This record gives sequence, C-alpha cells and structure tokens, in this order.
Amino acid sequence: MSVGKPTDWGEWKALERHHAEIADLHLRDLFAREADRGTRLSLEALDLYFDFSKNRLTDETLRLLRALAVKADLKRGIDAMFSGEKINFTEKRAVLHTALRAPRDAVIRVDGENVVPGVHAVIDKMADFANRVRSGAWKGHTGKRIKNVINIGIGGSDLGPAMAYEALRKFSERSMTFHFVSNVDATDFAEAVQGLDPAETLFIVSSKTFTTLETLANAHTARSWALDALKDEKAIAKHFVAVSTNAKEVSKFGIDTENMFEFWDWVGGRYSYDSAIGLSLVIAVGPDRFREMLAGFHAMDEHFRTAPIEKNLPVTLGLIGLWYNDFFGAQTQSILPYNQYLWRLTAYLQQLDMESNGKSTDRDGNPITDYQTGPIVWGQPGTNGQHAYYQLIHQGTKLIPCDFIGFSKASNALGEHHELLMANCLAQTEALAFGKTAEQVRAEGVAEDEVPHRTFRGNHPTNTILVKNELTPHILGQIIALYEHKVFTQGWIWRINSFDQWGVELGKVLAKRIIPELQSKEPPKLAHDSSTNRLIELFRKYRDA
Ligand code: F6P
Repeated sequence: MSVGKPTDWGEWKALERHHAEIADLHLRDLFAREADRGTRLSLEALDLYFDFSKNRLTDETLRLLRALAVKADLKRGIDAMFSGEKINFTEKRAVLHTALRAPRDAVIRVDGENVVPGVHAVIDKMADFANRVRSGAWKGHTGKRIKNVINIGIGGSDLGPAMAYEALRKFSERSMTFHFVSNVDATDFAEAVQGLDPAETLFIVSSKTFTTLETLANAHTARSWALDALKDEKAIAKHFVAVSTNAKEVSKFGIDTENMFEFWDWVGGRYSYDSAIGLSLVIAVGPDRFREMLAGFHAMDEHFRTAPIEKNLPVTLGLIGLWYNDFFGAQTQSILPYNQYLWRLTAYLQQLDMESNGKSTDRDGNPITDYQTGPIVWGQPGTNGQHAYYQLIHQGTKLIPCDFIGFSKASNALGEHHELLMANCLAQTEALAFGKTAEQVRAEGVAEDEVPHRTFRGNHPTNTILVKNELTPHILGQIIALYEHKVFTQGWIWRINSFDQWGVELGKVLAKRIIPELQSKEPPKLAHDSSTNRLIELFRKYRDA
C-alpha cells in the first residue's frame, strides 16, 4: 500500500508541474487543435455515455492522473473493499454496500461468514412484505387497507429512499402515498400526516443505530398520533415496522422484531438505500423494479471492479474531480441532472460525498494540511438552476466544475419538451466551454461600453453523462453506484477514511447538553460561552413571553 503524503509522491509533483504548464490553456484552443477531441475523450459503460472532453486537460494530464491512481494503489483499494477487508479502520468495519446487490450465488465473506444469503433473505422478506402491503393483504389494525407509507429516518436513512422514490415515481403505485419525515422540526411530521387516516397509515422507522435523536422523536410522535386514533397498543404491530441493525432498541421502542428488517454494520448509512433502508421504495415500486435497480448497481460495481483504469468510468470521474479540487483550487462541484425526477439527487449526493470525504486526518492519523479533500457538492435540476445561479458559473470569478446528466429518452414524452430540455443541457456545456469573445460580441453590433459585460470568457469545465435511455430503476442504480465509486476513488487517493463520520458527533453531544437547559423551568445554568449563553437566555425569554 502506498505510504506517506500524496503531496510527497513524484506523481503528485508531476501533476503540479503539469498544471503550471497547462492551467491557462483554453478549451477553445484544445478543441481547435484536436479534431477528434469530442469523441476521443469519452467513455461508455452500460447505459452511460461519458463525455469528458470539455475539461481543462490533455492526454498528458490523463496519463499523470492515472499514474497517481496507480501510485495510490487504487486497484488494491478496490479489491480490499469488494473482498470485505475492514477498510473503515476507525470503526473496524468492512465496507460492503456492494454485497447488497451481489447476485444470490456470490460469496462475500465477513469474518469468515458468507453474507450474501443473509442479504437475499432480507430482500425476499422485504419483497414479501411489500407485496402484502401493495395487494392489501396486510391490513391496518381496524381492517382497512394501507394507503399511506411514511418513512421516518434522517441522513442516510432518509435521503436515499426519498431520492429514489422521487426518481422512480413514474413506476410507483399511484393508489398509495409515500412520505419521508426526517427533520426534528415538528412541521415535517405535522405536514406529512395532514389529512391522513391513521388506520390507513404505515410507519417505517428507519435507523441503523435506532438511537438517532430526530428519528426517535419523530417515531414517538408518530406512535402517539396513531394511538390517539386507534386507541389500542396492539395497533402498533400493524402500523409500525422498523429497519435497523439494532434489534434491542427496536423492541425497546415497542416494535416486534418480527416486523424488523435487518441490515448490518458493514453498510454505511449513506450507502444503505439499497439495503432494507429502501423498504419504502420496494413498497412504492414493487420488488421487481427494486431488483432491477439492484442489478443496475451491481453492473456498475462490476465495471468499477474489473475495467482498466483508462476505461473505468467512476475512476475517470474521480480523477477529473481531483484534478480541479487539488490542482486548480476549485472548492465546489456542481451536479446538474436534467431530469425533474432527479430533483433530490444532488441532496443525496451531498451526503454521499461530503460526509464521506469531508475529512482532514489521513490514514496514519496525521492532519491533512497541504492538500484538499472532498469538495462542496451542490446543484439543482436543469433547467431551473439556469434561471438562478448559472450566471455565477458563467461569469463569476470562481471555477466551478459541473457534471451535467441528461437522458436520451423522455420519461414523459409531451410535445417538444424533451428536446427543449436537452437542447438547454447541451447548450450550457457548450457556452461554458467556449464562451463568447469580445470580437464576437462586437460583431453583433453591441455598443462598446457593453462589450465587457456581454463577454463570456468560457473555459469552464464540464462532464456530460448522456444516458442512452430514459430514467429506469436499472439506470438509477448505475448512476448511484457511479458516484459511490467516484467518492471511493478520491477518498482512497487522499488517504482518508471515507466511511466514518465522527464530524457529526460533537454537535449531537452538545445538543443533548442544551436540551434540558431549554426545557428546564429553573434559571438557565449558563455554562457555555457568552454567545451561546445569551442565545439560550433570549430563546427562553422570547418563547415564554
Ligand atoms: O448524520 C450522521 C448520521 O450518522 C449519518 O451518517 C446517518 O446516515 C444518519 O446519522 C442516521 O443514522 P441512523 O440511521 O443510525 O439513524
């Protein structure tokens, strides 16, 4: 395994020198020079065509980036992850979300035990349960059919199923409603249950640990809401199921572990929606569609595991992102799906990327001080973003690499909408790359004092992922696995642990300390800093006024 700081590696230094040489190259010149650039700098894997030609790089850049991946022993990292090595070393856990979508006959061992039969047993149990809910065979306490499903969870236990439900809504059971409650702000719960009949409502309490404050608060509120109407403790068994790794806490809450869907500590929260955490999604789209999605994940897993570096889509996406992040000093990465069904994709990818790679301690426990790790991920679906923040991407002072994701076929073919949508997607990458020179603006007869304002310097890098089909469960699986493995590639080269999340702990601990100080009737203890003390005092004063 590679050792030492990446910045000390010859391969890193070579990239630094190379960056100094080509940083000012303009995409206009690169395209003018290389007639085949648009086709040469592209890759295909499964249903995805990946065009990375509109990036500020040359063949030499790619050679050097690939050499960096080799130096980092990325191949070994990939093998270590897939074979169940405990690469989440701070939590001493394997990282095996890939086992969640492995075929039935695969053998993947954790501590000597093949985990695949257990994975499929849970998928089968989910399928059976989902079929019973969908068909009406599973009835509520009063005998009514379940019409509403509410997933209660947060972070990885919310964003994945919520995103995927929205993404696959076209395939969902329209006679039912699906809601996702995550925020401890009671508004989230209150609005979700507006107008719903408790006798027709099923809660799925999703929490890996089953100790998360927000989820437990919402689950207790849901319990009271259901019992207020159904007036019988026995109703819990028909209206509450749990998804967790923690059977003890699940039964403490009052959910029969018969109604618990299990997953395992080797599945990270943000990598978990293809586990039992996806139960709401299985009910929404049905087991067959869910399995198609798993197959899409698996197909991308196999591509990532077996394709050589130069043909490997997640590796290439990761290396290009690293190029801007570490050598151009880009702070952010925008992800722009041109598909309304993917309206929650970027929020999902924020957690995936930022909770995974927002780290500043390397594998040896050293602080990372001289290179950058995970980017700030942001974005919204096109074309909406075009009328909001694209201005800054085009003409602001910042370098913002963007991933555009477009689909060749419409999910809802209405008139000319799809061509309008995709024309915008393609036009944006063209405008960002090539801009508009002052000469071009003048040639349009623009008054001289306006020329500088109407000039676009261009040279803004973009990737385009053009999907060969419409958005299907299989394709969603491919896209999510692509980004999972992109995040892995980068984290491995940065020598960080992409699979722990200690950074969220401190806030949780301090919140627990402040809760009684807000609830108590006694004068506040004021044991914090002067700012927090004052805010506690004022909150209590205004609240009680
Ligand atoms: O925000 C921290 C975190 O631990 C995430 O990693 C996780 O997805 C989320 O909380 C929810 O955790 P749990 O599923 O255990 O409730």
